[in-house]
Amino acid sequence: MKTEVIRITKENLQETCSLAAKLIRQGELVAFPTETVYGLGGDALNKEASQKIYAAKGRPSDNPLIAHIADMDMFDDICDEIPKEARMLAKEFWPGPLTMILRKKDIVPKETTGGLDTVAVRMPDNQVALELIRQSGTPIAAPSANTSGRPSPTSAEHVYEDLNGRIPMILDGGDVIIGIESTIIDLSGKVPTILRPGYITPRDIERLIGPIRSEKSVQSLKDGQAPKAPGMKYRHYAPKAELILVSGERAAVVEKINNLAAEQKEKGINVAILCTDESTGEFPGVYVRSLGSRNIEEEIASNLFSALREFDETDAQVIYSECFEGDEFCDAIMNRLLKAAAHRVIKA
Ligand code: TXA
Ligand code: MG
Repeated sequence: MKTEVIRITKENLQETCSLAAKLIRQGELVAFPTETVYGLGGDALNKEASQKIYAAKGRPSDNPLIAHIADMDMFDDICDEIPKEARMLAKEFWPGPLTMILRKKDIVPKETTGGLDTVAVRMPDNQVALELIRQSGTPIAAPSANTSGRPSPTSAEHVYEDLNGRIPMILDGGDVIIGIESTIIDLSGKVPTILRPGYITPRDIERLIGPIRSEKSVQSLKDGQAPKAPGMKYRHYAPKAELILVSGERAAVVEKINNLAAEQKEKGINVAILCTDESTGEFPGVYVRSLGSRNIEEEIASNLFSALREFDETDAQVIYSECFEGDEFCDAIMNRLLKAAAHRVIKA
């Protein structure tokens, strides 16, 4: 299959989205930008389209998709028993990087929800995404537009790398703004529970609806206990090289990484470093990639996935990375880094 990439401009937005919407209505797939990461979209109400998404991504079909909506009518069309907290959150944060899990209505096929009775919903804050959904006239199911296991795509080029030949169209809306996936909150049970941290933090949410819980990470679950967001049990974001995080006080971390790098080099193993602007000059003789300034978390988040992809273009066999501590948005960044590192952490 030939994959057409169309660069979106103000002038061609309507016309291009109309072409793309036609594909969506025919049950085909279109990759599109959102404010978080690129999504791989198909008609959320068409089970064949959802099956195509799993096939194109190489994703296990028990891992449910997020339905993207453009207005509150679509919300009421697909969700049942909507609690008032959900409406409050929608009013405050939509369009935006918050996904809510609610009971689904029958029109949403189980192929879209991985067999669950609940559906994940969000209204993305991106003009291309909203126009595409509107013109399609249906909610669009979209996971991140990477092949399963790879870092989420933050540019149309990343999508092309992973999905060229597997889908008919990619809408290129330039680099995304946020760079890590939406916060997911489950509102289908008694206590609202965060299943995936993101740009919208627990504190932002509690300010509006009162106390919530945060789901334990997969690592702390006992054998046989299923994580609540099925996607959390799968291998994620992993670069080809072995990624190892080094935690501790900054100067100690730099020293530890340099010692580890020297040991590896002696064994003939190629090392690369993932760090911040504040320490780029402190790792002599190895390939270094900075994520930006330690003080600007937005910058770190928006560079993270493309940096992880870039390492695959180098001959690195082991990557050492600094850790990030700070506010709750840092937790969301660390959540992705820890998954990419399969939770390998060395204390400095
Ligand atoms: O920012 C985002 O959320 C991006 C953009 C494209 O919108 N999408 C995204 O989708 O990250 P994906 O498929 O990569 O991650 C969706 C996560 C998975 O971990 C999945 O298991 C969980 O949401 N999820 C979806 N529906 C669920 C449900 N009904 N119950 C629990 N978890 C659900
Ligand atoms: Mg994903």
